[in-house]
Amino acid sequence: MSILLTGGAGFIGSHTLVELLNGGYDAVVMDNYSNSSPKALERVEELTGKKVKSYTADISDREALEKIFSENDIKEVINFASLKSVGESVEKPWEYYSNNIGGTLTLLDVMRKHGAKNFVFSSSATVYGDPAEIPIKENCPKGTCTNPYGWTKWMLEQILIDMQKADPEWNMVILRYFNPIGAHKSGRIGENPKGRPNNLMPYITQVAVGKLPELGIFGNDYDTPDGTGVRDYIHVVDLARAHVKAIDKLRENPGCFICNIGTGQGYSVLELVNTFQKVNDIKIPYSIKPRRAGDIATCYASPEKAEKELGWKAEYGIEDMCRDSWNWQKNNPEGY
Ligand code: UD1
Repeated sequence: MSILLTGGAGFIGSHTLVELLNGGYDAVVMDNYSNSSPKALERVEELTGKKVKSYTADISDREALEKIFSENDIKEVINFASLKSVGESVEKPWEYYSNNIGGTLTLLDVMRKHGAKNFVFSSSATVYGDPAEIPIKENCPKGTCTNPYGWTKWMLEQILIDMQKADPEWNMVILRYFNPIGAHKSGRIGENPKGRPNNLMPYITQVAVGKLPELGIFGNDYDTPDGTGVRDYIHVVDLARAHVKAIDKLRENPGCFICNIGTGQGYSVLELVNTFQKVNDIKIPYSIKPRRAGDIATCYASPEKAEKELGWKAEYGIEDMCRDSWNWQKNNPEGY
């Protein structure tokens, strides 16, 4: 029996693949490589000593999905395949709704036809909008998203909940990721954004490697201890391990299980920059810029449910995240 990882060559997918293969699970990857590289899979093979079976295909491609499901014994799917740039989603809402929602609906339809009704979905803390409570618990009401990307996560969660309610044979594990950063210790796989990075850590590492002149910090007048935004950064290897636990959870037939994946610790932009400078002994030039539209002051998880009900807890700290992000970038200045 194999687990299908859609988007398995991407940042979170490739790290999850390593943890699954090292844990003795069988996995098959499909990826359209729109924002990833097949080299990531070669490197996973090198890291794990195992062969990776992969298909080049899009989750919207019903025929390709039919082929994958008929050639493999797949009962579980982890759906990493998703467009994820907030700014781009505002420019191209149709593409986001079509790819993320339309694609996932096609995938779910093929899954149920093949009797594979076990699904792990990559959701995001973005579904809480401007959160009504901090730290955020899973029963905190979902909020208003500020962009189509966020709404695709919000709506897909609802679709999965409704499908599971109507057909209890489904098991849905919805993981709400906080802010994944870091990279595998080896420095062989990591985050490889195409074009100018939108997220904070890849921006910092590209400044560190000399590809970008300086970091702009989006606002220092938030209601936070130093005025800059506070987030729950989580090491991607910890996040990957949460997916292994999610597979174990699926096997207990949980119905619909929704869980935050964060550390429970909030760090400000300045704290992250300062930690990066200290542990890597590199100066990051920065200047304060206006606030970015749609940003909120503070967002961090209550990690209690994950610990109690998923049996998962983050092990790595902010220093590990800064060290490993830099180790990846400096060894791969041009990405893959
Ligand atoms: C963003 C998305 C979120 C998505 C997540 C994926 C927005 C509004 N939210 O979260 O929906 O799930 O990425 O990882 O984009 N910052 C700077 N300078 C930069 C970049 C960021 O100061 O060049 C600041 C931001 O203002 C924020 C913090 O760094 O306070 C983290 O930003 P980012 O890495 O983009 O993540 P989020 O905005 O939390």
